[in-house]
Amino acid sequence: MIKPDGLSGNYTDRVKEIILDSGFSICKEMVVQLDEDTAKSFYAEHASNSFFPNLVRYMTSGPVLVMVLEKVNAIADWRALIGPTDARKAKVAHPYSIRAMCGVDSERNCVHGSDSPESAVREISFFFKATSSG
Ligand code: CMP
Repeated sequence: MIKPDGLSGNYTDRVKEIILDSGFSICKEMVVQLDEDTAKSFYAEHASNSFFPNLVRYMTSGPVLVMVLEKVNAIADWRALIGPTDARKAKVAHPYSIRAMCGVDSERNCVHGSDSPESAVREISFFFKATSSG
């Protein structure tokens, strides 16, 4: 997912270029404006964290681009490509990562990636309803 700061900062084309250059296919994509309930539901696992209200405000501040990426080892490779959650750390320790390029801090970190096959299944079906063509 490219988050609101990624879209408003015009990073979409550059991020997609990096995705394709890194050997991923973009199987599905969709621009969505999350409302409060949808953002809360997507990030339900973080509901007890103190940063949750700010996270919901941030994620509803503008449209996001959700994508289904395909590649062997896609989850680990995408997470390596985006870098650590805190974009300030990314800028120091992973200067070529996507979050180093377009993130700001531990909240406004420009992109999201599923952290396990289980969360990928949940997050893909959260946005993309299954169809007979897959
Ligand atoms: P993401 O990888 O999408 O997963 C959960 C999100 O919560 C994370 O990116 C950040 O946007 C946000 N987040 C995680 N940790 C913090 C934190 N310590 N302070 C503020 N926001 C955070």
